[in-house]
Amino acid sequence: MRMRAAVLEEFGQPLVVQEIDLEEPKTGEVLVRLVACGVCHTDMYTASGVDPSGYAPAVLGHEGAGVVEAVGEGVDSLRVGDHVVTLFSPQCRECEHCLSPRTNICLAIRDQQGKGYLPDGTTRLSRDGEPIRHFMGTSTFAEYTVMPAIALAKVSPEAPLDRACLFACGLSTGLGAAMYTAKVEAGTTCVVFGAGMVGLGAVAGCRLQGADRIVCVDLSQERLQMARHQGATDVMIGGADTVEAILEMTGGFGADHTIEATGLVGVMRQAVESARMGWGLATMCGVAGKGETIAIIPRLLITGRRVAGSSFGGVKGRDQVPQLVQRYLDGDIDVDAFLSHRLTLDEVNRGFDLMHAQDGIRSVIEFA
Ligand SMILES: NC(=O)c1ccc[n+]([C@@H]2O[C@H](COP(=O)([O-])OP(=O)(O)OC[C@H]3O[C@@H](n4cnc5c(N)ncnc54)[C@H](O)[C@@H]3O)[C@@H](O)[C@H]2O)c1
Ligand SMILES: [Zn+2]
Ligand SMILES: [Zn+2]
Repeated sequence: MRMRAAVLEEFGQPLVVQEIDLEEPKTGEVLVRLVACGVCHTDMYTASGVDPSGYAPAVLGHEGAGVVEAVGEGVDSLRVGDHVVTLFSPQCRECEHCLSPRTNICLAIRDQQGKGYLPDGTTRLSRDGEPIRHFMGTSTFAEYTVMPAIALAKVSPEAPLDRACLFACGLSTGLGAAMYTAKVEAGTTCVVFGAGMVGLGAVAGCRLQGADRIVCVDLSQERLQMARHQGATDVMIGGADTVEAILEMTGGFGADHTIEATGLVGVMRQAVESARMGWGLATMCGVAGKGETIAIIPRLLITGRRVAGSSFGGVKGRDQVPQLVQRYLDGDIDVDAFLSHRLTLDEVNRGFDLMHAQDGIRSVIEFA
């Protein structure tokens, strides 16, 4: 079929919206008609050419939500008409990692996905017979996408898809970092560094876990206001004296949980240093630049602080994204507050500009 898609043709250049070809879903694959798609940093990072693993031409986009239009052979988990959220982090339910409760990092299709191919090593995207590669296994800056069934979460049909799409990446990452990676306990003190999509999700996650005190640190007063709305009990402007300020607020000990959502290694260090002696857990969500490292004084670890990393918030996508969406439907999470701008596919590059200017939390592309 023919469809419109935003293609990364050349690094550092705007995406080009054009008609390209999409093949039918093969065995284990599903055709999804996209209804909405968020614009995320990872798309912009890849488009910029800074990401060393990037490739072109490719159709970007990974925060999609839509409706199943057709299923390939052997797909029994989804039916035509189902509402789905795309998962750059799949869940095959069979590999060693999927069978373990300790991680959400599925091993099933990593290699091919990382190279821009579907699991059988080919693409469904093309132009004049020349293959165009998939991005993060999702390629949702397009009217339609073909994806492995193991990378689609079936969500309640009652969830508006323009909000459900935010659960495809940033929001689930933040919520999950608090709920599944850190497993924040009721009554604890938590500090969240960063109040973008991920940090605000983490604030909400800490609140849902019953944290007593939730401190959010950011550079923007406006974003800190949003953090309060999501459940932060204290907010502060970040800087060189942040660790000291947090130690002061916590009787000199530090917080039970710190969650980093900035991507800055200097802030990651602050997250470790402001975690409580004895048991404080510092959870890292941010994606740092290639080659960057975190400086940690070993004594901080010997005296009981721990560090964890969180990919997609530790969320096992097919099982837990539907549960998180349900909590939104139950009124536990205010998702509307994150949807700042609505764009058409043709305006996709404006989504990057808005992100660059830190205008709003998320821009969402709506497909007519
Ligand atoms: N682990 C994952 O699976 C995953 C998924 C999505 C995003 N991410 C990463 O998470 C990070 C956050 O994503 P986002 O969409 O929320 O980004 P964002 O840019 O919207 O938010 C980052 C926030 O950090 C704040 N900040 C900057 N310097 C600070 C400082 N010194 N102290 C405190 N706050 C500071 C900024 O003001 C901003 O509000 C990025 O690195 C992103 O790549 C990771
Ligand atoms: Zn993302
Ligand atoms: Zn798996």
